[in-house]
Amino acid sequence: MLKNIKQNAKIVDIFIKKYFNTQKYSELVPVMKYGTLFGGKKIRSTIILNTSKIFNIRSNQIINLCAAVECIHSYSLIHDDLPCMDNDTLRRGKPSTHIKFGESTAILAGNSLLTLAFEIIADKKFNVDTTVKLNLIKKLSECAGHVGIAGGQFLDLNYEKKKINFKKIINMQRKKTGKLFEFCCLAPAIIAKKNLKTQKEMSMVGAELGLLFQIADDLLDIKGNKKNTGKPVKKDKKKGKSTLIKLFGYEKTLGFALDRKKMIINKLKKYGKKSNKLIEVSDFILNRSF
Ligand code: IPE
Ligand code: IPE
Ligand code: MG
Ligand code: MG
Ligand code: MG
Repeated sequence: MLKNIKQNAKIVDIFIKKYFNTQKYSELVPVMKYGTLFGGKKIRSTIILNTSKIFNIRSNQIINLCAAVECIHSYSLIHDDLPCMDNDTLRRGKPSTHIKFGESTAILAGNSLLTLAFEIIADKKFNVDTTVKLNLIKKLSECAGHVGIAGGQFLDLNYEKKKINFKKIINMQRKKTGKLFEFCCLAPAIIAKKNLKTQKEMSMVGAELGLLFQIADDLLDIKGNKKNTGKPVKKDKKKGKSTLIKLFGYEKTLGFALDRKKMIINKLKKYGKKSNKLIEVSDFILNRSF
């Protein structure tokens, strides 16, 4: 699996790098590159590419979406590390973007990455029907905005140092992390023009993968180390983050995650061999050390 993820990350990095070369130069470009290239698992891209295998979509047909999703994800990390948010100084083994370039620059580079994502989708070379493209744009903007990442990040910060129940924590995690993963599994089904039932099923798988990913990230904050994760660990407790671990403890949360992983794999089995790679990602998400 690791090899698959690394190969995909390389392909997407090369595409993003080339895309930057087509852009007019501005002082924000090196900052945007710093935030997107040089590290990061690009696991959302691997999920897009592995879901594409189920629907017989070639990687060069969908690479723009991988790049767009990675731009949005990187923007969310740049902002997530800001002093007004998680106030973290290390990301992907390097100083966070605001540490390296200053806060206002980091905010603006983040904003520019968010809009660049939609520019990459609008690009002529991303050759899909206009109606498909509009649908993708609508879905992706929802996933990034107030009912997705931004809304979830608001709740994450709002829930610090408070007693928050299970349902609310899950809802917050589904928004801040689940929504973008949902898009990663839905988009290939949209491009393949699958019926609404299949689209719904894939959205569900993506949302569950995203929730699993965030729970695994919270577990890594406890059992992981800075060298592997490339970011500070053992910070969630200090910040009073509302996580399932805070509610149930480490072991019970791990059990909960294992059950959810089994459920995801069961849902994917009906696609036969074509879903093997996506099933491997589900395993990786929970077993990873980075
Ligand atoms: C970290 O995401 C933030 C979460 C949503 C948990 P990743 O673990 O995908 O970060 P990179 O891109 O690999 O650095
Ligand atoms: C971030 O969650 C989720 C985002 C959408 C950015 P975390 O705050 O737990 O991510 P890390 O641990 O800083 O990567
Ligand atoms: Mg955060
Ligand atoms: Mg954080
Ligand atoms: Mg975390």
